[in-house]
Amino acid sequence: MPAVVLVGPMGAGKSTVGALLASRLGVTLRDTDQDIAAAAGKSVQDIFVDEGEEHFRRVEEEAVAAALAEHDGVVSLGGGAVLADQTRILLKEHTVVYLRVGVADAVKRVGLGSGRPLLLGNVRGRIKALLEERAPIYESVATFVVDTDNRSAEDVADELVEKV
Ligand code: S3P
Repeated sequence: MPAVVLVGPMGAGKSTVGALLASRLGVTLRDTDQDIAAAAGKSVQDIFVDEGEEHFRRVEEEAVAAALAEHDGVVSLGGGAVLADQTRILLKEHTVVYLRVGVADAVKRVGLGSGRPLLLGNVRGRIKALLEERAPIYESVATFVVDTDNRSAEDVADELVEKV
């Protein structure tokens, strides 16, 4: 079966919902941020600091291509993975779920003290800008969209089990 791929911004709940969905479907979850960190032997945050975002994006594109080719369960992508042209093309072969979230819930879930490299400084402002910039891209790759605002990860996973 082609993978079920979760996309959406930081704070959409991709990792949490992905784990619940995989367990309910009886498959495993592959998380591309985890793949990248494991291969580099350091956190995504440290890759951004040491090698820069451009390097991270190149590595991310490869990690996503590998995950989509090798894994037929649930795949969770980092929030910026859909920025890569190649990734958007590969996603056409899969069931892609856009976990939509508004600024308030995203900020709550990420936490104001988030160590995420793209949120340093002004978490709310950065999230708002990223949501505005990327929402059309998430929509363009999505097979369907699921709203996550004011909902638990369990509730979202229940809806997904019915849909995928
Ligand atoms: C990023 C999102 C992060 C991680 C990196 C960049 C982004 O993943 O890949 O910090 O560009 O939105 P999550 O969406 O899983 O937090």
